[in-house]
Amino acid sequence: MYRSHNCGELKISHINKEVTLAGWVQKTRDKGFMIWVDLRDRYGITQLIFDESRTDKAVFELAKSLGREFVIQVKGTVIERESKNPNMATGDIEILVSELTVLNAAVTPPFTIEDETDGGEDIRMKYRYLDIRRNPVKNSLLFRHKVAQEVRNYLSAKDFCEVETPYLIKSTPEGARDFVVPSRMNPGQFYALPQSPQTFKQLLMVGGMDKYFQIVKCFRDEDLRADRQPEFTQIDCEMAFVEQEDILNVFEGLTRHLLKEIKGIEVAKFPRMTYDHAMRTYGNDKPDIRFGMEFGELNQFSKHKEFPVFNAAELVVGIAVPGAGEYTRKEIDGLIDWVKRPQVGASGMVYVKCNEDGTYKSSVDKFYDQDDLSNWAKTTGAKAGDMIFVLSGPADKTRAQLSALRMELATRLGLRKPEEFAPLWVVDFPLLEFDEESGRYHAMHHPFTSPKPEDMHLLPTDPGKVRANAYDMVLNGNEIGGGSIRIHDKETQQLMFKYLGFTEEEARNQFGFLMDAFQFGAPPHGGLAFGLDRLVAILGGQETIRDFIAFPKNNSGRDVMIDAPSVIDDKQLEELSIKVDSKP
Ligand code: AMO
Repeated sequence: MYRSHNCGELKISHINKEVTLAGWVQKTRDKGFMIWVDLRDRYGITQLIFDESRTDKAVFELAKSLGREFVIQVKGTVIERESKNPNMATGDIEILVSELTVLNAAVTPPFTIEDETDGGEDIRMKYRYLDIRRNPVKNSLLFRHKVAQEVRNYLSAKDFCEVETPYLIKSTPEGARDFVVPSRMNPGQFYALPQSPQTFKQLLMVGGMDKYFQIVKCFRDEDLRADRQPEFTQIDCEMAFVEQEDILNVFEGLTRHLLKEIKGIEVAKFPRMTYDHAMRTYGNDKPDIRFGMEFGELNQFSKHKEFPVFNAAELVVGIAVPGAGEYTRKEIDGLIDWVKRPQVGASGMVYVKCNEDGTYKSSVDKFYDQDDLSNWAKTTGAKAGDMIFVLSGPADKTRAQLSALRMELATRLGLRKPEEFAPLWVVDFPLLEFDEESGRYHAMHHPFTSPKPEDMHLLPTDPGKVRANAYDMVLNGNEIGGGSIRIHDKETQQLMFKYLGFTEEEARNQFGFLMDAFQFGAPPHGGLAFGLDRLVAILGGQETIRDFIAFPKNNSGRDVMIDAPSVIDDKQLEELSIKVDSKP
């Protein structure tokens, strides 16, 4: 037996008990006649004491040789500490060691294994296993486990069955590029790693599985951001014989359960917002509704004067920033520069200070009088002491720019409180979205999403106007889940492929299996998938998912610990029938 107890559990009630502990040396303090060692494992830290007058000489000498991160086993007696540490779970006791075994020595770690480490991101990623020994990372992994466990409990209790679907599949278009895997046995042919188990879960519904879920890895070759990894995990779900309302209820229930069990927070019924409303009011289909700063559209009050910029604009839109009326000229200029950065792309910004005496001072006083500015204030909900920022230009772009500014200001003003949770559903997404690059429509969600029956007639003439039975769950300004009611008949699915620009042959080649399945009695069905990494990060009060993934990739998609991706040798390439001269 390596240990009788762990390093986080011994208390006053264990006094005089003989115990065996094992773990890592966090630190040692050698006072000459007395040596203290902090012994760490996953559960906590226990103080060991080696006392020259009470400890066997050989053990005492060995204790002197211990270095940071040595793996040791000790036997000893639990004794009461003279100076207690109320900040530690085991702070009342220490172990008077009688036997010491060094299980493994360790070289000095490249960074300190402490909550506040001296190691930068790169070095911690290279030695991720050491990083995992640190509380912040370890606790994030334990937290993730707890969330996953609660998901399984909740869904299993509701008759959902977890089914594994294959990883070596044929590409499923979800908007990103596929990672592909060459097939040795089928020269020149490739599997794709799933971007999601979308078609398989639909086939499970045809198979009568009725309620499916899976906590599953998905793979997407897309540009990385704080909330994106090339391999990430979904809580993937599908149900048969359901309408949108049923799905929203079940998964709102799941999210409410998680907020209650994990965070101890009771949330009222989630608000629902149409996509159109979200875009007009927040410039974003994943609005953070923990704070206001809703958009006020100002076309009506800004195009009647001689200000050419606004007169030429499709949309003039502003937000009232609470308490920002005091911003200095320098701060305002800083914000104007911020919106002009290429990442945001505004060409300029107008501002209006709402003075305490009820008057206004704007950067466009030359064109607009107090009545005009008062209308702007009313429309944006600005109060005395606030600042109104106004952007103008093409509607979609301007909304996106103002949304970026809204989020930035909210962050700066501390309005995005990590321990406050504001979930909502965004519904009625457009079915299709026009892609400027390819000059044609793409499925906004994926090609299996059902159009709203009442909008079907618009498909041939005004495809951009057709709404889908598609929905996203948004939490604190992040899309944590998305799904839809699916098409379940062959004819509609064929029609959809046609509108998406697939020839009949392409549709047959790529999705013949699905359309075949639809002929054998496909039930009405729908579902959704949560991004587990995002959900966990947000519940954990953060937005960077990397911290909640045991072995994440860096921003270039590399695992710097195992050094992947890497070149493979010529022989392996040959076996895979991949031309050797195609190597860089
Ligand atoms: P969707 O593509 O919206 O839907 O993905 C579902 C959720 O997965 C998360 N997500 C990601 N998380 C981390 N890194 C990524 N690269 C990444 N991409 C997506 C998001 C997102 O809301 N098959 C459909 C679901 C369905 O229709 O049932 C799908 O995959 O939180």
